Amino acid sequence: MSHLFTSFTLRGVTLRNRIGMSPMCQYSCEARDGRATDWHLHHYAARAIGGAGLITVEATAVEARGRISPQDTGLWDDSQIEPLAELAATIRRYGAVPGIQIAHAGRKAATFRPWEGGGPLREADGAWPVIGPGALPFSEAHQTPSALTVEEIAGIVEAFAQAARRANEAGFDWLELHGAHGYLLHSFLSPLANQRHDDYGGDFAGRTRLMREVVAAARAVWPDRKPLAVRLSCTDWLDGGWAIGDSVALARQLARLGVDLIDCSSGGIRPGVAIPLEPGYQVPFAEAIRHQSGLPVAAVGLILSAEQAEGILSEGKADLVYLGRQLLREPNWPLHAAADLEGRAGELMPPQYRWTLER
Ligand SMILES: Cc1cc2nc3c(=O)[nH]c(=O)nc-3n(C[C@H](O)[C@H](O)[C@H](O)COP(=O)(O)O)c2cc1C
Repeated sequence: MSHLFTSFTLRGVTLRNRIGMSPMCQYSCEARDGRATDWHLHHYAARAIGGAGLITVEATAVEARGRISPQDTGLWDDSQIEPLAELAATIRRYGAVPGIQIAHAGRKAATFRPWEGGGPLREADGAWPVIGPGALPFSEAHQTPSALTVEEIAGIVEAFAQAARRANEAGFDWLELHGAHGYLLHSFLSPLANQRHDDYGGDFAGRTRLMREVVAAARAVWPDRKPLAVRLSCTDWLDGGWAIGDSVALARQLARLGVDLIDCSSGGIRPGVAIPLEPGYQVPFAEAIRHQSGLPVAAVGLILSAEQAEGILSEGKADLVYLGRQLLREPNWPLHAAADLEGRAGELMPPQYRWTLER
């Protein structure tokens, strides 16, 4: 029996294997209303049929101004629950656990979709004002954010809590808070983006306060039997930035607030940062957090082959492996991995596809 295809239980939720679909924005709400569409339904259903244990639905905005692009999914309004409920039920029907990432893009909000260039929207394109810890733009091209007041920060915390409540009502069983990639929560953590002098900035305690408040507020409305995960950029890859030691220290605190798993990503606080991209380049962060905080972790980033994924788990570097682009390329990656590692795909393989196992 491989490690990759053993089940994994957190709180009251069991994954059929250790493979998670990493959250990936589809930028596909054509009506710009944050409501999931047919695209989302079929896209995620295909990966559930393909055998992933966990499907994490893409960064879903907790406020309209927290969208990366106008076409992002949202959970800032009860009217957005219904299409996501259909999506969660469909993922579950095909044997995967339905999860969702909730997010606020902060100063990186209001941009074109990647295939439209990805740059900041102009006013004529429907740009909206963006917010951040201070008036420091992400790049010269990006809008200058307005600095959140302490009262407005309370509104952000409440928006995350309301989105968590709606995610539960939609039937998701796994919630991830997006604390990575330079978006709002990460921008408060990193000294490169957060230059506040009040309770929400300055030292480690100040910069992590928003994250801790969001986690506590989400945990208070998210059922006890369901896992709560946080995605961190474990390092900014920059001198003077957020670093892996900070991530370990934060993970220890988040464990006490009821976080069950850290999803270990990196980068995104500034454009143009050189990242040493190679297979498994972020795995050492997962390993460090797992061993130094005691929390379960997911490793992500250029995990490409079944043998590589199996090695990460068997060497104790992570509890789960998340795949992004490999699952875009090949929705049935888990089915093939099961056949490769175990010589059979067993019950994971839908009977309709079992012909593929015959030579
Ligand atoms: C099209 C696309 C959309 C993405 N959207 C998100 C997102 O919504 N939230 C997030 O945390 N990361 C997002 N990411 C990052 C992925 O989740 C993943 O961490 C990254 O692609 C590295 O993993 P990979 O090498 O397996 O693709 C996105 C990546 C891609 C390629």
